[in-house]
Parts: sequence; C-alpha cells; structure tokens
Amino acid sequence: MCGIIAYFGNTPRGTGKNVAPILIDGLKKLEYRGYDSAGICLLNNGELYSAKVKGRVSELEKLALDLKQSNIGIAHTRWATHGEPNEINAHPHFDCKNEIAVVHNGIIENYTTLKEILEKEGHKFVSKTDTEVLSHLIEKFYNGNLEEAVMKTLELVVGTFGIAVLHKNENKIVVARRGSPIILGVGENENIIASDAVAVLPYTKKVVYLNDNEMVILTDGKYEIRNFDGQVLEKEIDEIKWTASQIEKKGYEHFMLKEIFEQPEAIENTLRGRIDEDLNVRLSIDKIDFNLVERILIVACGTAWHSGLVAKYLIEKIAKIPVEVDYGSEFRYRDPIVSKKDLLVVISQSGETADSLAALREAKNKGAQTLGIINVVGSTVSREVDAGIYLHAGPEIGVASTKAFTCMLTAVTLLSLFLAQHKKIIIEKEFFNDIKLLPGKVDEVLKQSEKILEIAEKFKDTKNFFFLGRGLSFPIALEGALKVKETSYIHAEGYPAGEMKHGHIALIDDELISVFIATKDHTYTKILSNMEEVHARGGKVIAVVNGDDNAVLNLTKDIIRVPECREELMPIINTVALQLLAYYIANFKGIDVDKPKNLAKSVTVE
Ligand code: M6R
Repeated sequence: MCGIIAYFGNTPRGTGKNVAPILIDGLKKLEYRGYDSAGICLLNNGELYSAKVKGRVSELEKLALDLKQSNIGIAHTRWATHGEPNEINAHPHFDCKNEIAVVHNGIIENYTTLKEILEKEGHKFVSKTDTEVLSHLIEKFYNGNLEEAVMKTLELVVGTFGIAVLHKNENKIVVARRGSPIILGVGENENIIASDAVAVLPYTKKVVYLNDNEMVILTDGKYEIRNFDGQVLEKEIDEIKWTASQIEKKGYEHFMLKEIFEQPEAIENTLRGRIDEDLNVRLSIDKIDFNLVERILIVACGTAWHSGLVAKYLIEKIAKIPVEVDYGSEFRYRDPIVSKKDLLVVISQSGETADSLAALREAKNKGAQTLGIINVVGSTVSREVDAGIYLHAGPEIGVASTKAFTCMLTAVTLLSLFLAQHKKIIIEKEFFNDIKLLPGKVDEVLKQSEKILEIAEKFKDTKNFFFLGRGLSFPIALEGALKVKETSYIHAEGYPAGEMKHGHIALIDDELISVFIATKDHTYTKILSNMEEVHARGGKVIAVVNGDDNAVLNLTKDIIRVPECREELMPIINTVALQLLAYYIANFKGIDVDKPKNLAKSVTVE
C-alpha cells in the first residue's frame, strides 16, 4: 500500500524547472494505493523543502506548488500501518538534522528494536511510524555517500520496503526495494520512480522493473542500478503496453463504474487469441509440466480468492483434477503439505499482494510448479511464477475490483478447458460457442442498469444484507457481499444458500434483505426452496433470475433479469449485476466509491 514517486528531470516539461506538479500528478494517480495523508520533499541547492498534510493529495497540492522550485523531488501518499493518519506521521520522514528525507512503502518489522537502539544513541523521533527508523539509520551511517548509507541501513532492516531517499548535500535520489513494488520510468533527460506504472505512463513507456534487493540511483539525466552488495547491474528496458488514456475516467462518474462498463471489452481481451480455429485452448504456459500435476493449489486474497473458488468448481468439474483454495495469508503460516506433484496457482489483479506473494514463495520452496493469473504486466508475481496467464483487463483503478474479477473468471474457465484438453477430455463444441458469446451477454446485463439503479435506490438504507447462492453462485454471493461491504459500508454476508437453515436463518426479519442468485443451474429448484424459507419468515428478497423467469414473482417484485447462459459461465453474468447493485447503493449513499475508507488497491503489507 502507499504510493511513492520520485522524479529527477533536467527539463520537466510544461512545468518550468519545477517537479512539484509532476509529483502531485503522480500522487493523484497513485492515490488508490492509500489516501489518508500525503507529503512531498524537493531538493534545491543544498536545501530540502517539504510539505505534509493529513488527507487527500488535493490538499497537498497548493502547499507543494508554493515550495521552492526544484528538478529533484520525492513524494508519498499513505495508507497508515504504524501511527494514525496525521501530518506528523505522513511521509517524508527526516533525520535529527533534517538533512535526509525518506518516503517508504512497506513495513519495517523490527522497527521497535532499531528505534530503541537509535534512541539510546541520542536520535530523537517525532512520529509513531516504523519508517522513521530508516531516516535515522541513514543519518547514523552517512559519511558523504548516500547510497552507501542506505545499503548499510537496509542490512539491518527486517520487513518490506520500497523507498526513495534524498540527502540535502547530494544531487541524487536513492531508491531501493525489497517486497514492495518499484518501477523506473526511463525518459529523455528525466527519470521517474513510482510504485506503479500508472504514474510513469504520462512521461514514458520505457520502464525497468526493480527486483528485490536492488537499488537505483538517479542523478542528472542518468540512472544506475545496483544490488545491495554494490554491484552495478545491467537490466533490460521493457515497454508498457497500456496507454495513458486507458487510465482516465472517460466521462464516467467513477472509475468503478467505468470499469464495470468496460467488462465486455476486457473479457474479449482475456479471450483474444486463446481459443484457436480447432477449438484448442492456447495459453503459452508450456514451461509447466502438466504430466506431473496431481493436485492444484490456488492462493489468492479478497476478490481474487472468490475467483479461486469458482476455479475449484470448474477445474474439478471439467478437468477432473482436485483443487484446494487457500487465502494467501493462511497458506503461508500453516506449513502446508506441498510437493512436486502440485501446481500452485496465484490469482492476483495487482501481482503485488504481499500475502499471495509469500504463499507463492512458500510453495516454490517446497517444490511446486507455479502459475500466475495476473493483470499487471511485469508485477512481482508475474516475474516469480514459472508461467503466467495475463488477464489483459487493462488498468483497474477503482479500489473495488470489478473487471479484473470477471476477467479472472474468464481466465480460470480457459484454464479448466486447457487442463481438460491436456487430459484428452472431450469438450463439447457448444461450450466454446458460449464463451464467444460472453462479451455480448455481459453487455445485456449492463443494459439492465436502470432497473438495478431503481432497486439500489429502494434498498440504499438497508443495514444488513445476505447474499445467497449455491454451487457456482456461492462464490459470486461472497463477491456480491464484499462489493457492498467495501463500497457502501453496509454489513453484508455471503453464504451458500443451503447453509441458511444451519444457523443464519435466525437473523431473518423484515429488515434484513436477502439477495438470491437464482439463475438456472442444476441447483435451481433448491434455491427456490431456500427463497421460500426466507419469505415464509418475513424476510425481504432481491432475486437475480434468468430472462423472463417468473417463478419468483410471488416472493418478490425486486428482480434483476440477466440473460441465460450455460451454467459454467453464469458466474460472470451474475457478477456484473451484483457489481452494479453495489455501485449504485454506494453512490446513493454519497460515498467516494473509488476510494472507500480504510482500503487500498494494492495490499503490499501483511
Ligand atoms: O491485487 P489482488 O487481486 O491480489 O488483490 C487482492 C485483494 O486485496 C483485492 O481483491 C481486494 O479484496 C479488493 N478490495 C476487492 O475489491
């Protein structure tokens, strides 16, 4: 979490000699990573000039533009881990003499020990953050060479970091990474560092991805990459494929809404080139020896974990391979049994989620082959897996994941078919035809937005929601509930509808709204019975049904109608309806849907 940006430019374009507007613009693009406080520091002629605020980047902007102009600077937007969000805890953090400024994304796990030692040595701390130990350690080791002091500091540090450091007496920016993403944008006489490509894109498409235990030193129009032993490294320059316009709102009120409406195209992109004329699934994952695979382990977090559950249902049903699904945060600490016969699949939009990454490393150490299903090209997970399937969903900026999720569902469907074909299981032709129709079906759901908006308005003041589904609709019920929780702050729980009678049904009354996914699959009649059970106890129901299905008319008038589609693909269709419901409820409540409280887009801390 947290966004960092650093810029060293000879001729910042359109901004005179001042990098402040460039840093502020970058922070705005990174704000989805954290937005409780922000700060900036510029270096001019042997002096540091800084500003910090509690709150959004927009509040920092005026202060930043009033600072002494400079062509060297670092900035930060924060998602608090240690120390409440306030001006003092905002980054950058300084040493005792205010000569060194540090911005940091990650967590210094041994900061209390380091702080105690430094305090005994006379260092004075002003914030409650873990980050401040870095500036004091760098101060301690500084002997006229900033990168050496940073290297010595990082030898002592346990935890994760992406940092950018200034010293008032050196015209350079020292950047280092372990466990938190850092990307270097390489321009003409300008170099830019950021936590995410979105902040680099307006300036250059040429990038270098920093690996763990690497640092980059920016000087006048130049950069040098080293490892933590000081060896200079030659690294390849990659080219970003996304365009800057892909990360604009394009007239939509929020990124979340734009991204919901982009789904037909996004799914098309996930599918592109992956089903050939002979109806073979092509995934370019040949580095994996599928003959060895006896079990699949899926690790993911949040929304991505829900796609993992769908994957389990699909892979077991279609490819007949046993699948286990774990939360990244649980897998890494439960000493899981993993062997060479396992294929570990990490699903992640960002490819930077700390828990998923740690789970991947754990499985790798235990000998599993590894596969990533990732959206962000060049992300850490994508570089550490044996093979990967990119979603090609385009940049997802809204904190609540939408299009990445339906693209994950599309990708895991392709993976199931790929695995089945590898095992010579015959897949009926109709399945492939239905996949090709998916983008159009999603479009049909989007056309229901007016009706969904009406339902959202009616239920916007609801205090408690249940989301209920069976089979493949159960993970989608979980996802529907998560979308409402994170965007509207309304209590919402997802359950397998068949579980209701084992306890949850006790909560049913006329204030609790149950959203049933009642589209036609092999559990359809069962779910109708579950709806009856809720209705009989005075519970109110919103139903998602297929086409002109009127079987639920005696139970509710609040019906979302989605197109019919084969059972295996219904999760994608139903998701879109629930995303719209969550979005409209949140918007009626006046919530900043793209930046809900307490959340961040990319969770790079444990
Ligand atoms: O980038 P990832 O897909 O690994 O992120 C995983 C979760 O943090 C993410 O899905 C989170 O749950 C979102 N807020 C969901 O909308």
